[in-house]
Amino acid sequence: MPESLVTRAREALEQAYVPYSEYTVGAALRTVDGEVFVGCNIENANYSNSLHAEEVAVAEAVKNGHREFDRLAVSSGARDGVTPCGMCRQTLAEFCDEDLVVVCDEGGEETTEYALGELLPNTISLDTLEAAEANRE
Ligand code: THU
Ligand code: ZN
Repeated sequence: MPESLVTRAREALEQAYVPYSEYTVGAALRTVDGEVFVGCNIENANYSNSLHAEEVAVAEAVKNGHREFDRLAVSSGARDGVTPCGMCRQTLAEFCDEDLVVVCDEGGEETTEYALGELLPNTISLDTLEAAEANRE
């Protein structure tokens, strides 16, 4: 039986590089074909260059030719039900519909699920920019 997506996120956070916050995060992103790409947070001494686990997972998937996803699991070492931050929600919205299921690890077998559309309603998208361009013509 394949490992659950939450398990993959938990495994991914073991690679987190977090000397500043000591807050480990792992993300596991599933493509519509069932492949899974994972990421962890990677911090930087200037703080602002820190990479978030979800961004790293999206980058892994996209650089391998995948742009359609149906499920994301996120876990922190604290098992506190961490959700993607605002920046990561927008990064996910570039490639995922509002019905992407976001599974947040609450510890043990407990999870909380959200739809991306409830975490980030009214996102700016390629459609927004194309509509604006059409209005200028
Ligand atoms: N972090 C993530 O990796 N994903 C999120 O969306 C929330 C925050 C990381 C960034 C930083 O390394 C640590 O968690 C504390 O904010
Ligand atoms: Zn983030």
